[in-house]
Amino acid sequence: MPKLKSQDDILKMRAAGRLAAQTLRYAGELVKPGISTEAINQAVHNFIVENGAYPSPLNYKGYPKSVCTSINDVICHGIPSEKEILQEGDIVNIDVTVTLDGYFGDCSRTFYVGEHISAERIKVTEVAEESLVRGIIAAKHGNRLGDVGSAIQNFAEKEGCSVVRDFVGHGIGKVFHEPDLQVPHYGKAGTGLKIVRGMIFTIEPMINAGDWRMKMLKDGWTAKTLDGKASAQFEHTIAIVGDGVEILTALEDDPIAIKVKKMGGNVLWPELKV
Ligand code: MF3
Ligand code: CO
Ligand code: CO
Repeated sequence: MPKLKSQDDILKMRAAGRLAAQTLRYAGELVKPGISTEAINQAVHNFIVENGAYPSPLNYKGYPKSVCTSINDVICHGIPSEKEILQEGDIVNIDVTVTLDGYFGDCSRTFYVGEHISAERIKVTEVAEESLVRGIIAAKHGNRLGDVGSAIQNFAEKEGCSVVRDFVGHGIGKVFHEPDLQVPHYGKAGTGLKIVRGMIFTIEPMINAGDWRMKMLKDGWTAKTLDGKASAQFEHTIAIVGDGVEILTALEDDPIAIKVKKMGGNVLWPELKV
C-alpha cells in the first residue's frame, strides 16, 4: 500500500500542479509550423526557472532536456532538437514536469500544428483526450486501479485504437515516479490496488492509431510506434479527495476537467474546499 499524502503535501502539490499547467499552456502558445522543438525546450526551461522551479526531466536518469516533445509516431519521451522543426499537419505532445518546493507536477497534451491535420491524427488525438477523461472519472475512492485501466482500454479499443503497454501512470509527490503506485492504462475492472482518499497519481494514456507495440530508438529515450502510425497522449496529475478528484494540473478552463464534469465525474476545486 503506497503512502498517502498529508494536507500539507496536497497544498504543495496544488502549487506544483498549477505551475506545470501554466507552463504547458505557455508551451502550447508557441506551437506553430516552423518552430524547432529545441526552441520550445528553451522557452519552457526559462519559464519554469523564472517561476522559481526546476524542469524535472533535465538530467533525470540522464535525460538531456527540460521537456519531452513527441511528434506523430513518437509515443513519448521525444528529445527536443534544433534540427526538428514542427511542420504543418504534425501532432506534437508536450510533456511538462516541474519541481516546486520539493514537489512534482506532471502534465501533457497533444497539440495540432497548423490546420490541415489528417483524419488519423485527429482521431488518435481525440481518443487519447477522451481516454484521459474516462480514466479520471473511474479514479474515485473505493474503485480499483483496474477500473481506471479498463475504462481507458474499453473506450480506446471500441474506437479502433490501441493502448500502449510499456509506460504507465504513476504515484507522484516528493518523488517523480513512485515505484509502489503504477497506473496501467489497460486492465480488468475490479482488479488491482484499491483507490483511496489521499492518493495522488498521474493518468497519462498513450493511444496508438494502429498496433500498441513500440520500438525504442538508439538514444534510449524516444519510443515510436512499431507500425509507424500516429500516437497521442494527454496527462494530468490528480488527487483523490472527498467523493471526487482534484485535477491538480488543470487550470479553471481546462477542456478535460470540463468534459469530466459533463460526463458525470466529480471534479473538486481547491477554492470550494478550503
Ligand atoms: N513526464 C514523463 C511522465 O509523464 C516522464 C518524463 S521522464 C524524462 O512520466 F526523463 F523523459 F523526462
Ligand atoms: Co507522468
Ligand atoms: Co509527464
